[in-house]
Amino acid sequence: MCGIIGYCGHRPAVPLIVEGLHRLEYRGYDSSGVCFVQNGELKVVRAEGKLKLLEDKLARMEVSLATTGIGHTRWATHGAPTEDNAHPHRSSEGDLAIVHNGIFENYLECKRDLQDKGFSFSSQTDTEVLANLIADECRSAASLLEAFANALKKARGSYSVAMLSPREPNVVYAARHSCPLILGVGAGENFVASDIPAFLPYTREVVFLEDGEIARITPTSWEVFSLLDRAPLEKKTTRIEWDMQAAQKGGYKHFMLKEIFEQPQSISDCMSGRADFVNFSVNIAELEGMEKPARLRLIACGTSYHAGLWAQSLLEGLAGIPAVAEIASEFRYRNVPLEPGEVVLIISQSGETADTMAALRIAKEKGAKTIGICNVVGSSIAREADTVIFTQAGPEISVASTKAMAAQMTVLLLMALHWSKDEHPRREELRRILTGLADIPAALRDILPALQSEASKLAARFASCRGMFFLGRGQSYPLALEGALKVKELSYIHAEGYAAGEMKHGPIALIEPDFPSFVLLPNDGLYDKTRSNLEEVAARKGPIVALTCAGKSGPDIKGCETWLLPEAYGPLNSFLMLPALQLFSYEAAAFLGKDVDQPRNLAKSVTVE
Ligand code: G6P
Repeated sequence: MCGIIGYCGHRPAVPLIVEGLHRLEYRGYDSSGVCFVQNGELKVVRAEGKLKLLEDKLARMEVSLATTGIGHTRWATHGAPTEDNAHPHRSSEGDLAIVHNGIFENYLECKRDLQDKGFSFSSQTDTEVLANLIADECRSAASLLEAFANALKKARGSYSVAMLSPREPNVVYAARHSCPLILGVGAGENFVASDIPAFLPYTREVVFLEDGEIARITPTSWEVFSLLDRAPLEKKTTRIEWDMQAAQKGGYKHFMLKEIFEQPQSISDCMSGRADFVNFSVNIAELEGMEKPARLRLIACGTSYHAGLWAQSLLEGLAGIPAVAEIASEFRYRNVPLEPGEVVLIISQSGETADTMAALRIAKEKGAKTIGICNVVGSSIAREADTVIFTQAGPEISVASTKAMAAQMTVLLLMALHWSKDEHPRREELRRILTGLADIPAALRDILPALQSEASKLAARFASCRGMFFLGRGQSYPLALEGALKVKELSYIHAEGYAAGEMKHGPIALIEPDFPSFVLLPNDGLYDKTRSNLEEVAARKGPIVALTCAGKSGPDIKGCETWLLPEAYGPLNSFLMLPALQLFSYEAAAFLGKDVDQPRNLAKSVTVE
């Protein structure tokens, strides 16, 4: 992961870079640093811990003269999150410094060679090796650009990297291979960064770099070259239409809470132009002209995987397409035979997750048609998939994904309906689902405040428990997995998501009075089956909270309390249960005083394996 930024312009570079790093913190936040050229000298300032600690250091220094610089916010891969391992890393002679996002896989072998040549190292990172590799190339190359390119050609793995050297004090070099990097083109100033919000207050004109490209920016120019032969490349700028307003907290205490409350809007935006609630039809323009797939394989990581698993049974049941959901990091190392006509659906909020990206490339190599479901326009997956369908959920900043999942579920449900429209027996079902779906945003808007207050009461009661279960069957099983994931990632409480019918095969041994079970109990065909599983928990004196709908007064089991939700039609109940689970995890983390938007050890965009 990690976030990088580079700036060349007329403003004081350091405060601008630190401000940009704040907007990249979702990519990692265990240490940070900046590098700038001042009075002809390369200065590096780094700090362990949150960005605030770097700011405190910088506040005690004179940094206002520098107008060129690079910065980094880190999510440790090689070496502990200490100041020594923080970026930027200087070459051992101090003639250049780099910031890096990604993993330099053959760094140990290169490090040994460099040590033999007299280079010394002060960190455990792969990045410092890359800095010295560039410095070594400088000894024979005719230019900094050539040295940079030659060193990168020797590096295996993934990177986006930016470099600064007093040899060319008003220039930043940058390159990408399998990690995001975007140029921002301003007036008298230019930027490079891992993500657009880093420089969005200054320019909306961007250039998306591709793998194998090198950029050279100065205050008044930007150029892109091929890494292979340094030939200049023609690149177009793209105008970004969204603004910083969409990426601010807007009065909410945390981004996560704001994004949970944005779900009604995200769902509406996602349906817009795709669902026709008057004629009861669904048309996804991106799928027009494409045959109904013979099979579907849904591949993703984390929360996006749960959205895929949720959609699996809908694609089977509504569209009659055999479907299977897979974890990207598993798929990529199995030699999966893809059948003719099989379509691979790649789901990713960021569009940059390394395992998901690798799965996309493997599926393409195997000749499968690929469809990306992404939230971030211009992201790698969005650009590489044969077809891309955007979830239109708006920028998601909180590390824990919320509104993106609701939007992914919406798109996937619409895809199932799109592919079901020729199935005459399912016309009535399509009408009922669409009628219900049209009401979901308003229903959600109405219940969110009440859900939050109920979640807060439950959180106060259960946040100090030893652990907890989230149980569900059918459509509710992936939601149970998601409920448990959210509790783990935000409040560090051990939580297990389980298929309600499977938990008697072992996990039930954990049940005792301080081990609650949150059970998803929509009023569906599996209600009675799940209810029986609750009896089994209750018999072992485990507290139960049943999330169920208004049509039912609750499962009427001793020791089981009811968290009543309004009833929606069939699979649509999930859209009401999901925010209840998200709010419970939010409130539990807030109750325990955890850092909700930046949980420990995590990062939003996981661009490493
Ligand atoms: C990280 C985030 C998760 C997210 C997962 C997949 O682990 O912390 O919230 O679900 O990556 O991300 P993607 O952008 O591919 O959906």
